[in-house]
Amino acid sequence: MKKITLHINALDKKARINPEIYGHFTEHLGRCIYNGIYVGENSSIPNVRGIRTDIVEAMKNIKVPVLRWPGGCFADEYHWKDGIGEKSQRKKMVNTNWGGVTEDNSFGTHEFFDLCEQVGCEPYLAGNLGSGTIHELAEWIEYITSDNNSPMTDLRKKNGKQKPWKLKYLGIGNENWGCGGSMRPEYYADEYRRYQTFCRNFSGNELFKIACGPNSDDYYWTEVMMKKLNHWHTRGISLHYYTIPTGDWNKKGSARDFTVPEYYTTISKTLFMEELITRHGEIMNRYDPQHKIGLIVDEWGGWYDVEEGTNPGFLYQQNTMRDAIIAAFNLNIFNRHCDRVIMANLAQAVNVLQALILTEGEKMVLTPTYHVFDLYKSHQGGEAVYCHIDNRKVGEGTDIPMISASASVKDGKLTVTIANCSVSEEADVDMSVFGFEAKSAEARIVMGECHALNDFDSPNTVSPKMFETALSGDRLSAVVPPCSVVSVIVS
Ligand code: AHR
Repeated sequence: MKKITLHINALDKKARINPEIYGHFTEHLGRCIYNGIYVGENSSIPNVRGIRTDIVEAMKNIKVPVLRWPGGCFADEYHWKDGIGEKSQRKKMVNTNWGGVTEDNSFGTHEFFDLCEQVGCEPYLAGNLGSGTIHELAEWIEYITSDNNSPMTDLRKKNGKQKPWKLKYLGIGNENWGCGGSMRPEYYADEYRRYQTFCRNFSGNELFKIACGPNSDDYYWTEVMMKKLNHWHTRGISLHYYTIPTGDWNKKGSARDFTVPEYYTTISKTLFMEELITRHGEIMNRYDPQHKIGLIVDEWGGWYDVEEGTNPGFLYQQNTMRDAIIAAFNLNIFNRHCDRVIMANLAQAVNVLQALILTEGEKMVLTPTYHVFDLYKSHQGGEAVYCHIDNRKVGEGTDIPMISASASVKDGKLTVTIANCSVSEEADVDMSVFGFEAKSAEARIVMGECHALNDFDSPNTVSPKMFETALSGDRLSAVVPPCSVVSVIVS
C-alpha cells in the first residue's frame, strides 16, 4: 500500500481559525425549533424556560460558537414584533416556506437570546429585507441592543429584559436571489446599502453586517456585491452551497440507502466547496486584497430526500458515516481557507437536513456529524498551519482524493484532523511535523461502514473512540481505516 504523507510546518502560519467556522443554523423549519430545541416550559422533557437541557449540554460539549436564526427562507417573512410579549397573545402566522404549518411565535427574540446564553455562543440574526421594512429592522436592532430611553427599550423592559443584549452578527436578508425576494444582484445591493444604513450601533454594541451572497457558483452575484459594497457597508458576504448526491433538486437521493458509486458522487459534489471558495475568493481578492470582508458559508451540508413518511416540508433526514465524511472534508476546507472564510453554519442543528442532533419525544441521538464537530473542536481559535498532502485517489479513473486534512496550533498543541473517504481501503499515513517539538500524541476516531448511523434504538453505533498513532521524533504515523475521521492532538 502506497504511503500517504502529510507535510506539516507548524511555523508556517496561515491565519486564525475563527471559532465561528464551527457555527450552526437554527431555522423555524420542521422540528428544529418546535419539538426540537424548544419544548415549552410545561414539557415533561427536562428544560430551562422551555429550552431542552440535553440539547444545550450537547451543544456546549462541542463548543458551538454561533447560532444563526430565524432562517433561512423563514427570515424574510418573519416579523419580530409577533414573537415578543405574553405568549398567549402572540400573533400566529403560517409558515409558508416549510410545510404550511401554523407558527405560534412562542419562540421569539427573548427565547433565542436565552438559548444563546445557555449554550454560551454568539447570536447571528438574519433580518427581513425581502418582505419587511427598514423601519422594522432598525427597531429590532434598537430593541435588542440599545440602553437609551426610547419606545423600543421601554417595550423590551416591559417584556422583562432591563439591560440590552449584545448582538454582533447581523445578516440583512437571506437568499434574496430566491426565497428572499427573487432580486437581481444590482437591486439587492442597493437595497442592502439602504437597510444597513439604519442598522445603528447603540450603546457600545458594534454590528458586523453580512450581505446576502451567491447561490453556489453564481460568480456574477459576488462580482456585483464586491463592486457595490465595501467594508463600511459590510463585513461579510454569505455563500450557500448544499451537497445533493444527484444534483437534482426534485430527486436528491436517499439519506441512508445509497450505492457505493452514489457515495463517491456525493463526496465529489461536496468537494466542489473547495472550488467555490477559491473562485469566489479570487473575485473578493480583486476588490478587497486586505481581506476586510469575510466569506461566510452560512448554509452548507448534505441535502437528501426526506425520510419516508415524514412531512416533505420538514426536511427531516437521517445521518450516516457519509455525512461524517462530508462534515470532515468541508471543515478541513474551511480551516485551510480561514484567511477568507470567517464563519460557516451547518444546515441545520436539530432534526433538519444534515443535523447534529435528532430527537423523538424525550429521546435524543447525536449523529455521526455531531461527533466530527466534537473531534474538530480543538481547531477553534487555533492558527492554521501549512499542511500539504501527497495524496492518492480513491480508485482508478476517479478524481477523488482519498484523504482530506488540516492542521492548527493553539496553546502549545498541534491539532491534525484527517478523513479517509475510501469505503474499502485503509490509508497508511505518515506525518512529518516541522517546527513543533512533539512529545506525545493522543488521537480519537469516528468510523464505520459508510451507511452506519445512530438511531433511537441504537444511539451509539457511531461514536468517538481512542485511536492509536505512533510517534517517533518528528514523524507521526497512523493507519487510518476506511470511511473514518481522525483527530490527533500533539503536545
Ligand atoms: O436550510 C433550508 C433552506 O435552504 C433555507 O431556509 C434556505 O435559505 C435554503 O434554501
